[in-house]
Amino acid sequence: MKYLLAIETTAHTFGAAVLDFNGKILSNITDSYTTESGGMIPLEVRKHHKKVAPEVYQKALDEAGIKEDQIEAIAFSNAPGLAPCLLEGMEFVKKTAKRLNLPIIPINHCIAHLEIGETTGAKDPVLLYASGANTQVIAYEAGKYRVFGETLDLGVGNFIDTFARYAGLGFPGGPKIMKLAEQSNNLIELPYSVKGMDVAFSGLQTKLKQLLDNGEKIEDLSFSMQETVFAMLVEVAERALAHTGKKELLLGGGVACNKRLQEMCKIMCEERGAKFFCPPNSLLVDNAAMIGYLGLKMYKAGLGTKDLDSIDIKPRERTDEVTVTWK
Ligand SMILES: Nc1ncnc2c1ncn2[C@@H]1O[C@H](COP(=O)(O)OP(=O)(O)O)[C@@H](O)[C@H]1O
Ligand SMILES: [Mg+2]
Repeated sequence: MKYLLAIETTAHTFGAAVLDFNGKILSNITDSYTTESGGMIPLEVRKHHKKVAPEVYQKALDEAGIKEDQIEAIAFSNAPGLAPCLLEGMEFVKKTAKRLNLPIIPINHCIAHLEIGETTGAKDPVLLYASGANTQVIAYEAGKYRVFGETLDLGVGNFIDTFARYAGLGFPGGPKIMKLAEQSNNLIELPYSVKGMDVAFSGLQTKLKQLLDNGEKIEDLSFSMQETVFAMLVEVAERALAHTGKKELLLGGGVACNKRLQEMCKIMCEERGAKFFCPPNSLLVDNAAMIGYLGLKMYKAGLGTKDLDSIDIKPRERTDEVTVTWK
């Protein structure tokens, strides 16, 4: 059997995974940068990645039960993301590829979040991609993943994290806000901003901070924020389903771990006769298994290279810039 190694470092998470050439995920190890109260500082995150890389790599090999000389190719996320984090990942990957004389497959992280959805049974879905840095409604049409709608300002995860940091909750804020929201059902009216298939969060952010300063309870604000923001996301996802005529909704990205968002999407799908798909949390948050899953397909389509100098990071590459030649 042949094996593929995958590495993920676009933001807060250093991930390493091993897949066999049938696409089976044999290991999927992550180590994420977190804080008690502050936000995420890119250069600190880079240091984190450098420190944990050897151990996470070794764990991924051990759990898969292979030695490094059994690796056939390396996939890694070279786009999009925070430049210092991407550089650290690329350095690690190029060093390993040189040492073992292996080809590399550079991967767009957002498209990996999408394609891993296939493992849930989704065939031709509309993807609601809700992560820290990205919030997009995407579907495949005519050789590319098209962005039908997106945030006009912050990614929904960054939006939630920013509010959480303001409230002194640390990073990442999403899971903490979810817990707090479960303790309230007092809906405070908040600005709701949907424009066509796009959403915007900055007005809402200002309002939330004001309300917190005025002494509103964090539980009530967390609950009301989730209800409002997720309703916005569900509305644009439903519009994309109607527009494309597709019959499947797939969730992706770290914010999709949120139980309330999953529930609201499920209800919407039931009401319009669409199927709802959601991968397990380990494949929703940043992880290397999804990079490997797409990497394997691209490698089999001939997209690996040993010309290491031709590979670079692309911090701002957009989902719809990538021509899909592996499908
Ligand atoms: N249960 C949850 N509810 C809401 N947000 C969550 C939850 N779990 C994780 N998140 C958010 O997911 C985001 C990270 O998503 P991920 O896809 O891993 O990152 P990135 O944007 O870097 O690709 C963070 O903003 C985090 O707060
Ligand atoms: Mg991500």
